[in-house]
Amino acid sequence: MSDYTKEEIVVLADPQALAAAAADQFVEIAQAAIEKNGRFSIALAGGSTPQGTYRLLAQSPRKTEVDWANVHIFWGDERFVPPHDPDNLWRMAQATFLDDLPIPAANVQPMPTVGLTPAAAAAQYAQTLTDFFAPGPIRFDLILLGMGDDGHTASLFPGQPALTATTPVTAVYNAPKPPPTRLTLTYTTINQAAHILFLVTGAAKATAVAQVLDRQSAMAAWPARGVAVVNGRLYWLLDQAAASYIRD
Ligand code: 6PG
Repeated sequence: MSDYTKEEIVVLADPQALAAAAADQFVEIAQAAIEKNGRFSIALAGGSTPQGTYRLLAQSPRKTEVDWANVHIFWGDERFVPPHDPDNLWRMAQATFLDDLPIPAANVQPMPTVGLTPAAAAAQYAQTLTDFFAPGPIRFDLILLGMGDDGHTASLFPGQPALTATTPVTAVYNAPKPPPTRLTLTYTTINQAAHILFLVTGAAKATAVAQVLDRQSAMAAWPARGVAVVNGRLYWLLDQAAASYIRD
């Protein structure tokens, strides 16, 4: 039995349909946030799954539907490698779509990975977030998340100390997915978001999807299970292959 209602689990035919649905959601949430508050804040996901969505956002019609000058880009996690490293998630997003969008440079705030320890970098990014959202709490309009076949999300991996961190951002040292050193938003930050969108495709993730949606599963074993919005909306966008083991 799942905690999530049917409305929150959206099954799309294939990765292309999922990318289009996610891009539509992004535009809708961005437009509403800018209309209401004059700005839209988003934490991006790494991995390969969101790349189709990112590419669509940099193309018509979506490119023309968002007031990019008021979009503020952050990251949900980062691999602790320099910006020029092919594994760096900021670099991936720049190359995939940010370079093609008229977002002011000051609005793009990657997690720092050079010239300081991972712990200091996590603290610095926490301050960046605190300053951006002040005087309010850290509350993203949208957080995009991927998930690994072990149920990890952002850089929250099974059984790791980061799962119980209560600072806004924390360092991760022994990630099973390389590179091992990372920075990640914690549940404390993720769960305050106004909207969370999981993007998950492929049969290899079907077991993890079923486990994460199962109320009986342990959060420490399936970290995506710990994502639960406090006062917002959470959606799972799945393709049919990833959704194939979900029970009613
Ligand atoms: C990263 C992310 C990680 C990612 C998942 C899914 O390392 O890129 O931090 O959480 O989102 O591992 O990745 P895929 O979309 O490539 O399967």
